[in-house]
Amino acid sequence: MNKRANVLVTGAGGQIGSELVAALREVNNIVYPSDIRAPENPQEHFLQLDVLDKERMREIVIEYEIEEIFHLAAILSAKGEENPMLAWRVNLESVLTVLELAAEFKLFKVFIPSSIAVFGLGTPKDNTPQNTITAPDTVYGITKLAGERWCNYYYNKKGVDVRSLRYPGLVGYKTLPGGGTTDYAVDIYHKALKDGHYDCYISKDVAMPMMYMPDAIRATVELLQAPPDNLTVRSSYNLSAMSFTPEQIAASIKKHIPTFTIDYKPDFRDDIARTWPSSIDDSAARREWNWRHEYDLDKMTEDMLMNLEGV
Ligand SMILES: NC(=O)c1ccc[n+]([C@@H]2O[C@H](COP(=O)([O-])OP(=O)(O)OC[C@H]3O[C@@H](n4cnc5c(N)ncnc54)[C@H](O)[C@@H]3O)[C@@H](O)[C@H]2O)c1
Repeated sequence: MNKRANVLVTGAGGQIGSELVAALREVNNIVYPSDIRAPENPQEHFLQLDVLDKERMREIVIEYEIEEIFHLAAILSAKGEENPMLAWRVNLESVLTVLELAAEFKLFKVFIPSSIAVFGLGTPKDNTPQNTITAPDTVYGITKLAGERWCNYYYNKKGVDVRSLRYPGLVGYKTLPGGGTTDYAVDIYHKALKDGHYDCYISKDVAMPMMYMPDAIRATVELLQAPPDNLTVRSSYNLSAMSFTPEQIAASIKKHIPTFTIDYKPDFRDDIARTWPSSIDDSAARREWNWRHEYDLDKMTEDMLMNLEGV
């Protein structure tokens, strides 16, 4: 049983953070959600924090006796292309700040997520292996790949117990996504219920690896609870649940809303999607810390529509 730690979550107001904080509260002592933006509704123990403010992050670690950091703050893939220098700074300088603090204060663990965006056009597209060509074509992917290497470096050189997942595109109903290439797979459910129609910015036959949010949250908690000696990957684990194209998610929605229609109007995000894998080999995660996904496309569609209908 892990010790119940005091935990800082950066970027906690985002798509993952707003669901992960509740899960972390089940297994930790005090969880301090933080974000550059103040929350819309009052949140217990919330701290305003710009992750580029190294001194403030250091003060928080000391003042609140932080023992673990979940570093979620980032500029995602589509937004990163609009402001590459900001993405570089937010996504990478802050990773180094977190790793330095972990080494200095001997934090129990840190979690720094990566992404399927570390892969690129030269990467094998199907069943992409854990260790393969990583040659990203987006600034987001470049920052995530550099971050992975720094994680591995701090584990090897400074003994930091750093853990990471290469999340696929994440789909959830509780919050809207923050400017990634896979956002369409969330928007499509909202528009299906509201308008009965969706204009999709990804081509109909482009498959991307995806995961339903409850699986992603459980994967994160389970990875953090795994005994350190079981883990051989300290850069970032491949993680997978399902892969689908826009045409396939539309077909899944039509089973519930037969009148639903979709048109395809690919934009620059389609170009990004084409550089990413179609499916992921996550056998290392399954073998080393017993990862098992629960949701496939139809099960996710049923749950998304049921929950969004109630909103
Ligand atoms: N959502 C996905 O599909 C997905 C897939 C792969 C990887 N990831 C990774 O997971 C992590 C969380 O992603 P998400 O989807 O919740 O992102 P998001 O865009 O929804 O949330 C990111 C949060 O970071 C905050 N933020 C931005 N700049 C900041 C700064 N300077 N200081 C403090 N906070 C700042 C934003 O206000 C936002 O609340 C990121 O590292 C992301 O790269 C997400």
